[in-house]
Amino acid sequence: GVDLRVDSLLSLMTLEEKVGQLNQYSLGSEFTGPGNKNGQDSIRYRQLISGQVGSVLNLLGAENTRKMQELVVENTRLGIPLLFAYDVIHGYETMFPVPLAESSSWNLNLMQKTAQAAAAESAASGLHWTFAPMIDVTVDARWGRVMEGAGEDPYLHAEIAKARINGFQGDDLGHNKTIAATAKHFAGYGYAESGKDYNSVNINQYVLHNHILPPFKAAVEANAASFMNAFNDINATPATANKYLLQDILREKWKYDGLVVSDWNSIGELVNHGVSQELKDAAKKAVIAGSEIDMEATAYVQFLSDLVKEGEIEEAVIDKAVRHVLKLKFELGLFDDPYKYSDTSREKEIVGNPIHHDLAEEIAKESIVLLKNENGLLPIKGSKNIAVIGPLAKDKDTPLGNWRAQAVENSAISLFEGLENTLPNSVNLQYAEGVKLSVGPNNFFQEQVINEDDRSGFEEAKNLAKNSGLVIMALGETAYMSGEGRSRAAIGLPGLQKELLKEIHAINPNIVLVLMNGRPLELSWEDENIPAIVEAWHLGQRAGTAIAETLTGKNNPSAKLTMSFPRHVGQLPIYYNHKVTGRPSTGPGQVFYSHYTDIDNSPLYPFGYGLSYSTFEYGELALSGESMTEDGTITASIVIKNTSDIVGQEIVQLYIQDLVAEETPMVKSLKAFEKVEIKAGESVKVEFKINKEMLSYYKSNGEWTLEKGQFRVYVGKNSTVKQYKEFKLR
Ligand code: IFM
Repeated sequence: GVDLRVDSLLSLMTLEEKVGQLNQYSLGSEFTGPGNKNGQDSIRYRQLISGQVGSVLNLLGAENTRKMQELVVENTRLGIPLLFAYDVIHGYETMFPVPLAESSSWNLNLMQKTAQAAAAESAASGLHWTFAPMIDVTVDARWGRVMEGAGEDPYLHAEIAKARINGFQGDDLGHNKTIAATAKHFAGYGYAESGKDYNSVNINQYVLHNHILPPFKAAVEANAASFMNAFNDINATPATANKYLLQDILREKWKYDGLVVSDWNSIGELVNHGVSQELKDAAKKAVIAGSEIDMEATAYVQFLSDLVKEGEIEEAVIDKAVRHVLKLKFELGLFDDPYKYSDTSREKEIVGNPIHHDLAEEIAKESIVLLKNENGLLPIKGSKNIAVIGPLAKDKDTPLGNWRAQAVENSAISLFEGLENTLPNSVNLQYAEGVKLSVGPNNFFQEQVINEDDRSGFEEAKNLAKNSGLVIMALGETAYMSGEGRSRAAIGLPGLQKELLKEIHAINPNIVLVLMNGRPLELSWEDENIPAIVEAWHLGQRAGTAIAETLTGKNNPSAKLTMSFPRHVGQLPIYYNHKVTGRPSTGPGQVFYSHYTDIDNSPLYPFGYGLSYSTFEYGELALSGESMTEDGTITASIVIKNTSDIVGQEIVQLYIQDLVAEETPMVKSLKAFEKVEIKAGESVKVEFKINKEMLSYYKSNGEWTLEKGQFRVYVGKNSTVKQYKEFKLR
């Protein structure tokens, strides 16, 4: 079907028309809205109506997309419809928690549903294609984009990648309720050296194959419609011109048959990287490597035809890329009806639908990580006077997070509103801002200026704290303090917040610290001094309700961290699945072992960690045998008891360590997990089947390898689990 249609259309196309399909622009409504006069004089407009643009980024709305589609379909020789793409990262208009937050829920089913809802809203607004999910494994919280991914573990990341891709795309593209997904950024972007965005990536092949690539391989298996290049160079070759990644791995090894799009001007940046003298050479290098759509560099539209005519590139290279573009357009059904996504009545009905807001609340509740709860301070009970202090307490915008598509500004339910709606009227709830977080504009395009000297709100906040039984402090990062271009060298609470916290603590230590942030923070002082700490991320539309219901016990927290929180920024990058080393540290006081003299090796809060109001007791781990053959399995089982008097959910995690391997093994790697609900006082038995896939690893040459020998299995509540059993692979 589709292949034949693609081939027959391709055979009708001129070289220039083919190149046009590989050219992508970011266009606003200047060509479709009332102010289109200027637009019509522009080069881009002429290119658009002469078939030299194949896809458009950032044009939104059923009406706008219909108009632009009409321009192209009616004015170009072959009438090939455009693809409309957009960064729908954690919602279109309805905002769900930022992806790092959602990942803490470990609830694949819910993550699939939020992606599905985001897709439904997008598809109803004329969009065909999202540049999500971001599936970069991240080990350095200084990098601002950690908020867009699912943390440090390749296995969990791969599972989440599949769930999100399935959510965006559904079973089948083309029925205008789903959109095409993009696995990005291929590859290595999450390993930007020193956590600095766009920086070089220098990693060995073991890390590439075992940590970075597994989510991308999973994306291929989940039929992700497209892949996006990364900005970075990786081991001295820019990802956008990287034949090893784009040909050897993606096409040859994984047999991927989808589309590859560059990142914004990443083809142009080959000149900045210093591998091309000028844009024409950049176009040649990128297209030969396998970058198929040029987003915004204008390199392809300017130079590809000439390069073919001059014999520098074979036309077959262009054909292959164009095939992938056309294939997606056919799959989306655009040749049958180019306007099927642009339906204003559907747009009105589906965008921002209350059902999606309910879903946002549901997943927000499952994404809140209870980090500390001393003396059962939470859930809140019996306090008559509660002070709510901090710059984020009444903030209705920050919970919407960065990369927020069409979120309506200030539309989130704030923590304060949530508390007002949840607490009984008998509670006297009072508020003080305490401190301003940033000075000046706070938006996607501007560098945030953090307030470092205005303490004028301190006194009011301290007075309030003095007269209150309980203080809830809402601190963290505004939406635009994490995300793209928001690397931070220090990752404590920004600005004067910690100072305020310390001063309040000196007056009234009865504090629940509610954190809203897009990345792991450095919280050593807070952990030592504050009795209750709740990680509430940027939770989206109904953040305030979800947090308030968690603080009051209506919701029992169940989330667990997917990125380690360091004790100190100097520990970064930090991740649980590190190598054993030749000198593993066994405790303090030993000089010549792998450690710091001034700080413990361990993170403050490890991967997989999170508390609940329930308490869970793990029984003894049992294995069904002491050895297995390659084609056999072993079952690990454990009984978990809820020893508290309330129902709760526990995320049970299975880790495996290969004790001896040809290439240095990791201390342990997550291989399976299950989120189970356990009623008060009841027990459940959780079983995991261990198979050879879970015992294999990638050698540095990329070979998937299974080696006989001894393996250790751990099952527990987080990555620091100590209880294990061993077995032999015969
Ligand atoms: O999709 C994004 C990418 O993640 C970063 N650069 C811009 C692209 C398009 O907006």
